[in-house]
Parts: sequence; structure tokens; C-alpha cells
Amino acid sequence: MAQAAHDAGTAPTEEQLSRAGLRLAVDGPVARITISRPERRNAMTGRTWTTLAHIGQTLPGDVRIVVIAGEGDIFSAGIDLGMFTPEGVDGERSIVTGLADGSADAAGLEEYIASLQEGFLWLRRPDLVTVAAVRGHAIGAGFQLALSCDLRVLADDASLCMKEPALGLVPDLTGTKPLVDIVGVHRATEICLTARRVGAHEARELGLAELVVGVDELPGAVDDLIQGLLATDRDAATATKDLLQRATGNTLEQQAEAERRAQIGRLTALAAGTAAGRR
Ligand code: ACO
Repeated sequence: MAQAAHDAGTAPTEEQLSRAGLRLAVDGPVARITISRPERRNAMTGRTWTTLAHIGQTLPGDVRIVVIAGEGDIFSAGIDLGMFTPEGVDGERSIVTGLADGSADAAGLEEYIASLQEGFLWLRRPDLVTVAAVRGHAIGAGFQLALSCDLRVLADDASLCMKEPALGLVPDLTGTKPLVDIVGVHRATEICLTARRVGAHEARELGLAELVVGVDELPGAVDDLIQGLLATDRDAATATKDLLQRATGNTLEQQAEAERRAQIGRLTALAAGTAAGRR
């Protein structure tokens, strides 16, 4: 998994963000990322995802919450379909470069896809809580981006669709694991292999949304959630998210041991803080 490289390097410039179809606003502990290519229904390119990874690597260390939303009335129409044309998008490398004439090598393509996945993987970092605020369509890569976040708040017009199999592709932007973790392999199979649209209320029933609200209430609901998340101790929140992420893969005994170790870490830190306060 992509690990934190806090405060490492320089954040993307406004020009880099703009070319990637992204906006970034950091206000204290909260970073807001907006997918912003309204003329393409917020479709994303490889550059969008490598720039997302860049954002993750260079977030200020005091950021705790990351909110991802789409510009206007749509989250994202998924990958820019121009990425599958030989010309690519805006001078950017096409995904199919060298495949038709056999000059592409599998290792190079795998490395390229891995670089795109980095844009999604960092959203699982235990020191952050990531929130997708979804209006309208979240299709393909857009759905996978929302799935990469810890929490999903949906407007009641939201519609989730794993379109990839309908286009002859597999979902490869790290979305299959969270989807299966949330809805189970059988429902995930049905959702992916029909490529149907899952509406907001069904998403809520399936656990794909923590909250569904009216379109006009979405910004306020996200702000309320942020306030709730900021009410807990940061280090405890980080340790707790880390524990929760391990729970599915652990046996009960392993998880109980992980809880003990994490708690000893917390108690030690709290005691050191109290002792420092007394000095
Ligand atoms: N890639 C490139 N351009 C797109 C994309 C996309 N994924 N989605 C929409 N656009 C463009 C359209 O071509 C159109 O451009 P134009 O004005 O130059 O003709 C413009 O955005 C508006 O699109 P409309 O289809 O007119 O918008 P509408 O609101 O009717 O529909 C919807 C929105 C449902 C998102 C529709 O555009 C759509 O189905 N897009 C394709 C979705 C898709 O297949 N994504 C890939 C999934 S697989 C993956 O992400 C890995």
C-alpha cells in the first residue's frame, strides 16, 4: 500500500492541478480535492491519478481529513475514453500505446497501471480519513475512486456504476477489494457483471454509502461529518483506523493482540503527555 511521505517534496502547482483536471484547497486539517473537467463530465486521465498521488505525497502534515467531490452535478464519468484511442488525451500517453503492433511490453504496462493505482491507494492511509462526496454519476474509475475513500456521503441523485466489464475491461484502480469487502463477493459479481447503475438509496442499503441526503444538503452533511471526525484525538483515530483495517484479515486472537499492542502505544503516549504536563 502507498505509504505516507508527509511534507515530502513540493505540492503540485496550480498549472499541474489544472492540467490534471483537479482543484485542491487546504484549510488547516481539511483538504478538499475537486475533480474539475466539467466539459468532459469530470472524466479523468492518467495525469489525474498521478497528480492525485502527488497530492497525497505532499499534503501538509496537519491534514487529517480529505474530501473528494466532483465539480457541478456529477462526481465523475470515469476514465476519459480518449485514453483508449491511439492519440491519447492532450498529449498524454494512451493506455493502448504499442498494444496493437505488439511493441508494448507487459512489464512496462504493468508499471504504468501501478503508477495510476498510486492515485487511489494513498486514500487508505491510517493517518487520514477520506470522504467521497458524490453527486450524480460515479462511473467506472469514478466509482473506484469513491470506493477508495473511507466514507461515502451521497446525494440522493447519486448513481454508482462499475462500467468496466461492459467495455471489455476489468476494474483495476483498486476498487474491487473495497467493493467485495462492503457488499460481499456475490453482490459485487452482480453489480460488476451487469454494469448496472446502483442508485443512492440502494447504495445506502448495501453499505456503499454511510449517508444519503438531498442534493442541497450535501455540503452541509459533509461539513457536519468533518466536525464529527475532528472531535476525536488524531493519534487515537490513526491507531483505530489501522486496527479496523487489519480486522478482516486477522483471526480473533490476532486482532485481540493487535488491540492490546495499539492500546499500550496509546496509554504510553498519554502517560508521557501527562508526565510532560506535570514537568
Ligand atoms: N470520457 C470522455 N468524454 C466524456 C466522458 C468520458 N468518460 N463522459 C462524457 N464525456 C463527454 C461527452 O463525450 C460529451 O462531450 P461533447 O460535449 O464534446 O459531445 C460531454 O462529456 C458531455 O457528455 P454527455 O454524454 O452529453 O453528458 P450526459 O450528462 O448526457 O451523460 C454520462 C453523462 C452518463 C456520464 C455519459 O457521458 C457517459 O455515459 N459517459 C461515458 C461513461 C464511461 O463509459 N466511462 C468509462 C467507464 S470505465 C472506467 O472508468 C475505467
